[in-house]
Amino acid sequence: MSHPNGHATLEKLRREAIGLNTSYVLANGERTRRIYLDSTASTLRLKVVQEVLDRYLPYYSNTHSVMHFGAKLSTHEYHWVHDMVLKFVHADPQIYTTFFLGSGTTAGMNRVARTLREKRPERDVVLTSIMEHHSNDLPHRKHYREVVHVPAQMAAHSLGCVDLNRMEQALNEHKGRVNYISLTGVSNVTGIINPIHEVAEMAHRHGALIVIDAAQMAAHMPIRMSGHEDSARNLDVLVLSGHKIYAPGSPGVVVTRKDLFADIEPQEVGGGMVDTVWVNRYTISQHFPEREEAGTPNIVGTIGLGAALYALHKVGMEVIAEDETRLINYALEKLSQVKDLIIYGETDPCLCQRTGAISFNLRDFDHSLTAAALNDYFNISVRNECFCAHPYVREMVMLSLAEEAERLSDEELANLAELHRGMVRASFGIYNTEKDVDALVAALHHISANREHYKTLYQRLPSGDYVHNTFKFDHERLFSIKAAVDDLLTH
Ligand SMILES: Cc1ncc(COP(=O)(O)O)c(C=O)c1O
Repeated sequence: MSHPNGHATLEKLRREAIGLNTSYVLANGERTRRIYLDSTASTLRLKVVQEVLDRYLPYYSNTHSVMHFGAKLSTHEYHWVHDMVLKFVHADPQIYTTFFLGSGTTAGMNRVARTLREKRPERDVVLTSIMEHHSNDLPHRKHYREVVHVPAQMAAHSLGCVDLNRMEQALNEHKGRVNYISLTGVSNVTGIINPIHEVAEMAHRHGALIVIDAAQMAAHMPIRMSGHEDSARNLDVLVLSGHKIYAPGSPGVVVTRKDLFADIEPQEVGGGMVDTVWVNRYTISQHFPEREEAGTPNIVGTIGLGAALYALHKVGMEVIAEDETRLINYALEKLSQVKDLIIYGETDPCLCQRTGAISFNLRDFDHSLTAAALNDYFNISVRNECFCAHPYVREMVMLSLAEEAERLSDEELANLAELHRGMVRASFGIYNTEKDVDALVAALHHISANREHYKTLYQRLPSGDYVHNTFKFDHERLFSIKAAVDDLLTH
């Protein structure tokens, strides 16, 4: 349920994100405010998160201590965040638990892969999709006999979401052997939203589980793990990264049906998850989340995560989703007007909905040079390369080249393939506005119209990155830990 003042609260959160007003001196000597379009990699920290941490830190204590005041307070709040997570993803606390680990989705996905392999050893196949981040691919490859990468379907002009017919076909081909389908809720490359509940239904019909990589979903749209009228649409496991939901420095999160992690020894052992230890044996706690959280947890990060989730919950994720859908559709429309811009993935919002990210290339122009020029001359922070999703990026680039193949010579095509072996990604968070999109579009128009000029300003390194001929970014003048400590200790 959203707060009645959701829009006003959203406005406050967006204005106050930390780092939104950071300015840099650019290659042309001007100082401007940075435009942060890299939230898919990591979101900025909300001010409310920082202020909650400032209020909490005087009481900081280890949650494994018991009797002193700070320990009681820390332990209570640490557990409150677990409850908040379950509420945030609509997971019934009778059936589901959540635990925190590592610094993002990667740690969670590895834990899930190992645990489910041990829990259901007779099922040695995992289905995933071609759209996945390596973190939702390699852990399954490491622990299972076979991983099937189900393709994305062709929509009107380009690839859309995962192909449901091919998914069903793969389930039939591997009848009785599929442990789980692990699917991204939202692509970190194209922002395309997958029909996760349809896939859940399909998985459950075949006795398989459904695991959702929600790294790119959690900050952008509501998640409903349980409580669907048709319980087959409920999700079994979901993994997300706290640093992608406005709380950098917070842990990775796994939300899972308790029974899937019960009755086997947890993968990680150590302090805090055992009842009693003798020199020749030990008994493991039956309680969640303790049994999955060996060692001292990331307590401070978790408090920050709780603050971020509660703040977003007060706004209402429906309100955020509506706002961001408007922004991404605006961005798609404006970007499609830039001459020679290839946008990857289906762009028709009626056929394929997106949230959070758009990846593109200027035709015949290196993605790395586009990203360098956007940064150095326009103060626009974007990511480039393959975004840890090599198979998906490769497939989309090849598809776009196929359209060119007929009118280009082999040599021209080879050159183009070399330039487009990655992409540029603009990604959005609650703090981005149409003004940011307009600035990106204007910059791309300018770069597109002045390609030769930008090429003369940079040298390409053997790594594929570009360095400016004269402009140097002196980051140590802005910040270094050593200088900050020296300064703080002398003033
Ligand atoms: C869809 C998706 N899954 C998994 C990950 C891995 O997350 P982390 O780096 O937080 O472990 C990412 C990171 O970008 C992602 O976008």
